[in-house]
Amino acid sequence: MQIFLDTANIEQIRQAARLGVISGVTTNPSLVSQEGRADYEAVVKEICSIIPGPVSAEVVVEKAKDMIEQAQKIAAWAPNVVVKIPATAAGLEATSTLAKKKIKVNMTLCFSLNQAILGALAGASYVSPFVGRLDDIGEDGMGLVRDIVDVFDYYEFDTRVIAASIRHAQHCVSAALAGAHIATVPYKVLTQMIQHPLTDIGVARFQGDWQRLSEQ
Ligand code: E4P
Repeated sequence: MQIFLDTANIEQIRQAARLGVISGVTTNPSLVSQEGRADYEAVVKEICSIIPGPVSAEVVVEKAKDMIEQAQKIAAWAPNVVVKIPATAAGLEATSTLAKKKIKVNMTLCFSLNQAILGALAGASYVSPFVGRLDDIGEDGMGLVRDIVDVFDYYEFDTRVIAASIRHAQHCVSAALAGAHIATVPYKVLTQMIQHPLTDIGVARFQGDWQRLSEQ
């Protein structure tokens, strides 16, 4: 499973990139607005210059014609940009047109197996089931990831499954076990994935023992 970082925070992306474990980045309008930056194009271009892998940037219009127009502009920002399109009827229409133009689409806001299948059939390169938001309303978000992975495997779809709306480190474990190709995680969750108290205790003990030995 690959790990993408789900953020528009440049410093977090730089720090995560140094770890050598990040293959891509996903952003959305809410994440960009959290950074207080209205210059979406500049933010995405900066991220693309740090991370050579896929960087998802979302359209913010509703009609298929407008999505296609905006997506083409976004795709021209950098060679590694992937355009995020919502799983709506207009989104499917836009995705099928964009796929024919070889523009990569990440079908976002995906909350059902049917939406994911339609996204794949329309030619999306990625579908993003939103695990946390489904859990929030009492549904089984990771169950959806599992179902999409199984169905895509069975029918040999090329579309990659991104477990999105990840809220904690256990979601990453479950996404890996479910066979998600990618989990896109907030920086906080990436740090949670690294941490284990026994590692910290072990490092402190080794250092203490080494220190005592050097003082003898
Ligand atoms: C992924 O592409 C989305 O940007 C993100 O995972 C949404 O997460 P949220 O439900 O925590 O907003």
